Amino acid sequence: MANNFAYDTEALWQLDRDHIIHPWIDLGTARTREPVIVSAAEGVHIFDSRGQRMIDGIGGMWCVNIGYGREEMAKAIADQVRRMPYFSPFGLISTPESIEFGRRLTDYTPGDLKHVFFATGGSTAVDSALRFVQFYNNFVGRPEKKHIITREYAYHGSTFLSASVSGKPGDRGFLDFISDTIHHLPAPNCYRRPEGMSEAEFCDLKVADLENKILELGPEKVACFIAEPLMASGGVVVPPQGYQRRTWELCRKYDVLYISDEVVTGFGRLGEIFASEPVFGIVPDIITSAKGLTSGYVPLGAFFVSDRLYERLIGPEGKGKYFTNGFTYSAHPVACAAGLKNLEIIEREQILDHVRRTGPYFQARLKSLLDLPIVGDVRGSHMMACIECVADKRSKQAMPAEWDVAYRIIRHAMPRGLMVRPLSHQVILSPPLIITKAQIDEIVDILSVSINAVADELAREGLWLNAA
Ligand SMILES: Cc1ncc(COP(=O)(O)O)c(C=O)c1O
Repeated sequence: MANNFAYDTEALWQLDRDHIIHPWIDLGTARTREPVIVSAAEGVHIFDSRGQRMIDGIGGMWCVNIGYGREEMAKAIADQVRRMPYFSPFGLISTPESIEFGRRLTDYTPGDLKHVFFATGGSTAVDSALRFVQFYNNFVGRPEKKHIITREYAYHGSTFLSASVSGKPGDRGFLDFISDTIHHLPAPNCYRRPEGMSEAEFCDLKVADLENKILELGPEKVACFIAEPLMASGGVVVPPQGYQRRTWELCRKYDVLYISDEVVTGFGRLGEIFASEPVFGIVPDIITSAKGLTSGYVPLGAFFVSDRLYERLIGPEGKGKYFTNGFTYSAHPVACAAGLKNLEIIEREQILDHVRRTGPYFQARLKSLLDLPIVGDVRGSHMMACIECVADKRSKQAMPAEWDVAYRIIRHAMPRGLMVRPLSHQVILSPPLIITKAQIDEIVDILSVSINAVADELAREGLWLNAA
């Protein structure tokens, strides 16, 4: 690994403060907090600019699925840059790499989802999918079908449209959103279900939420329902058993298109390239993908659409009706070359099998953290998980955001060799999929010490009273 850590970290911090606007930054603290400068990575580890080695519990950002430092990826990317780095994807121009990658992906898409539109990341994939739904309904003569149903705590991206179908309350403070045609249902969060209600009853309730909303708006006015199979950035919300299948059946019943946002759950995180059919028993009309699609080595996103929809748009009827949506970097050949190599590595190293074997171990080990006094819930599946800290286990009262619990946990975890993702009072985990059982043990040990240290800190500061 070429890195001698000859960085002047303080100088970099200052330049960062002076010039860089970070995504999702609290501007109130932007000038006072020190950014973490990640300067090297290898396998499941990242290194900061001072040489601190940490297990990457975040997988970059749910994306570095095959791990870091893959020479083959570097070569595939470099070879493509030398051969042909870029040409316009618009109209009828294509590249061998985008054609081959698109075709290879359809080996894994469920049902008749055999057409792919390449975008540049998850947000543009979701945005494009929603615009495709608009296009489709306008084209087939039902322009009144405009309403989109989504859920609170969903995260679908950061364009105007994808942000509008997202629903994390904390993200809604100071930006504007489309509101007249977008409707948010309560999240299907089993941990926060009403006291005494069984999971099956909760499922009935959440399915009824969707049906009631469709009927309230009128099925003839509802274009689509968009849902992450497990809600990732909303705190790894795992819906009750059967929820995905039953909501999908409702959509079919009312002729509402179903978009499964697999930007996180795809590419192995749940042990499948696309989880919709093998894990949840659904064949959506559209699947969106990004992140693990290239393991984050180069940005790329995509949506897959069923032949059933696509075939209605082509042929003489479609003449002159342009799908006027696309990006300079749609189907970027370097990204598609990276995607092909990424898929080859996942297949050759049987990474899906590894996740199916190791994922349950990861979840079981994490569950041991439930014994800690401030951990209220540990949830997830395979290689995605959330640890939720509560002020009171019995009432499940969340720790207030101003206690900065997740940041505190990270401050303890980093020097011990672990990076995780903070989300208010929740810690999110989505490590590279190649993680071993020994490394999982290390993650859990570091988390356990760090969470206990934070509990002590909160008690010392008089913020939290151990009521156990
Ligand atoms: C489910 C889901 N959809 C879409 C997105 C947006 O992807 P991107 O950040 O690549 O635009 C994300 C990002 O975290 C996501 O989790």
